[in-house]
Amino acid sequence: MIDLICGARPNFMKVDPIIRNLSEKVRLVHTGQHYDYAMSGSFFNQLGLPKPDINLGVGSSTITVQTADIMKAYEPVFIQGKPDAVVVVGDVNSTLACVLTAVRHGTPTVHVEAGLRSFDRTMPEEINRLLTDQISDLLLITSREARENLLREGRPDDSIVMVGNPMIDTLLRLLPEATGSKVPGGRFGLVTLHRPGNVDNWKLLGDILDSLGKLAPLSLVFPAHPRTLKNIQNWGLQSRVPRNLTMVKPMDYLAFIRHQQAAEVVITDSGGVQEEASVMGVPCVTVRPNTERPITCTLGTNVLCPDPREIPGAVIKQIEKRPAVPPTIPMWDGGAGARIALEIERILE
Ligand code: UD1
Repeated sequence: MIDLICGARPNFMKVDPIIRNLSEKVRLVHTGQHYDYAMSGSFFNQLGLPKPDINLGVGSSTITVQTADIMKAYEPVFIQGKPDAVVVVGDVNSTLACVLTAVRHGTPTVHVEAGLRSFDRTMPEEINRLLTDQISDLLLITSREARENLLREGRPDDSIVMVGNPMIDTLLRLLPEATGSKVPGGRFGLVTLHRPGNVDNWKLLGDILDSLGKLAPLSLVFPAHPRTLKNIQNWGLQSRVPRNLTMVKPMDYLAFIRHQQAAEVVITDSGGVQEEASVMGVPCVTVRPNTERPITCTLGTNVLCPDPREIPGAVIKQIEKRPAVPPTIPMWDGGAGARIALEIERILE
């Protein structure tokens, strides 16, 4: 039996294609890092994911406490279930907490989406990625540069396998279904912002909002992450929300991918959105000084924009450069889940 771990919104689209392809018995463990219907439940419904076998129900706290809470809650569940392997995805606190628990018990571990590096250790996700990759047995990667990163950090070549991008499996599977979702008429841009580096800094968050106002008359739809909304309210930044920016609740998966597909441009600081926009050929401006997903800039439609004042210029340039046909990225083809399942079954032999 395999424990497959999920906890936060971007994990659900990654575990889905793995579950669909594994013939081995799976126990789906939800840590409860995200717990709202909007951040978690709606994704299970739309993806058709099975109800988690176990929900650890840890909820929110500081990064340190949340990671520790997940370990404390997972260990007894792990001991009772005796899984033959533990599979983790992505770079959230749940990823590191569960892989660390499994390693302490000598159980084989698999990291899906290994080797991504922003080289920015102020990002909690970068620390989660570095540590998870140091201790996982099998490292499944989405793009070529991940292998170079892992080799540089001393991981053995034969522990690394290129499998492609499972998040894109889910995107390609559900995009046809998403076309039923309503989008604004006319041209619009889609905005998502939730990185602590942007939204936990009131000056930067205010500057980004001001800069988005300069994109008028382009209207912008902004499904705001709970962290971002809380900070805008706490710091009284509501008056800086420009008139062309409509803030809405976090969207469900189908509505979100439909909005991305129909958008003139996507302005984001999310990792997954850079990948999804690239595959759909939608211009993307990433409001960060770095990305752990450089392939979205070299082969995809993404550009980095570290200075909020530069957003309007970057948006215009990216829209002008919009490719006539969506780019092709090696192995981002809808077949990652099948390749991941094969590798997991191989280490169990
Ligand atoms: C986490 C991940 C990040 C991922 C993001 C996607 C880490 C370190 N970060 O960041 O990599 O891109 O999820 O969303 O694991 N909250 C709710 N409802 C929820 C969940 C959270 O209101 O269902 C609130 C919490 O109260 C908290 C804030 O959102 O104040 C942040 O949640 P948390 O899970 O700590 O981190 P994210 O910012 O969501």
